[in-house]
Amino acid sequence: MATAPHDPVMADRVVELLAVRDDKPAVIVDCTLGAGGHAARLLAASGSRTHLVGFDRDGDALELARNRLAAYADRITLIHAPFDEFTEHVAPVVDRIGPLMSVLYDLGVSSMQLDTPGRGFSFRGFGPLDMRMDPDQTVTAAEIVNTASVAELERYLRDFGEERHAGRIARAIVENRPHTTTIGLADLIAQALPRGQRRADRAKGIHPATRAFQGIRIAVNSELERFSASLPQALDLAAASAVRPDGRSGRLATLAYHSLEDRIAKRFFSDAADSCICPPGLPVCGCGRVPNLTLVTKGAETPSQDEVDANPRARSARLRVAERLPVVDLT
Ligand SMILES: C[S@@+](CC[C@H](N)C(=O)[O-])C[C@H]1O[C@@H](n2cnc3c(N)ncnc32)[C@H](O)[C@@H]1O
Repeated sequence: MATAPHDPVMADRVVELLAVRDDKPAVIVDCTLGAGGHAARLLAASGSRTHLVGFDRDGDALELARNRLAAYADRITLIHAPFDEFTEHVAPVVDRIGPLMSVLYDLGVSSMQLDTPGRGFSFRGFGPLDMRMDPDQTVTAAEIVNTASVAELERYLRDFGEERHAGRIARAIVENRPHTTTIGLADLIAQALPRGQRRADRAKGIHPATRAFQGIRIAVNSELERFSASLPQALDLAAASAVRPDGRSGRLATLAYHSLEDRIAKRFFSDAADSCICPPGLPVCGCGRVPNLTLVTKGAETPSQDEVDANPRARSARLRVAERLPVVDLT
């Protein structure tokens, strides 16, 4: 079961940008509740009529968060579902409580998941090849590594793990089936890499199987597809007119830990904030595009060195925040 929850990453900045400071009814959504660290900070900093909806695919995480947030029991709705079911679960709460003012995605796996060997996320402990965030899901890491074709595995490792030697590793995985344990697979992956790559990884202090494990985990949990599917739903429901005393509308915040998920957030925010999609070179804008987001953080913000020293998990975090613009009636 769960170990001690990790410190929420960039929590002061997340609270500064997402907490609802007044006493009007409002909804905040934490799409990735985990141990409830960000949720507890947001509830503590927000007005007493702010209600928090928390998603997690992992029932253990949800229970951990429920205990941590017990003091706010009448201000929370916890949902055991993937966050791409955003509209279905959040729209009724918005109808009942009030405008959606903040949405947070703190992506990836939690320390609790990584530190529990039986969940099979990490090569640091001996465990089954599982990697499911939701243990009710049928597809496991074992199924993927033991049944996918070389081409499929190569794509997962290259596209989701950003592994340069994806082809070599994919062939080694297929030639040495079956695979059953995290450590067994991690050793095989390390051996499949050129010696220079193994040395370079060790010099950086990372295990040579880190990228491949990331690729397999992202494939098992369909992480990028779910993130891409959730963002437009959150944008649609976010409060679009300045209904608060501070004049702010609904905000979306993403904390990403690798370039693939950060790229999805960056593209989504910059597309929605774009006021013109005419081909380059046109003398005047003819597209009539109305942006529906404005960027609150200019580019991605990163944690301070002090935070990284205190919480190494924060090392690669990139925070992006955007705010819903008022809907313009063009009729
Ligand atoms: C990095 S942790 C969040 C930590 C949390 N912010 C805190 O302060 O404790 C990410 C959590 O999001 C969950 N998660 C990841 N992808 C999800 C998805 N598509 N739908 C729902 N939960 C997801 C994971 O199960 C994990 O518990």
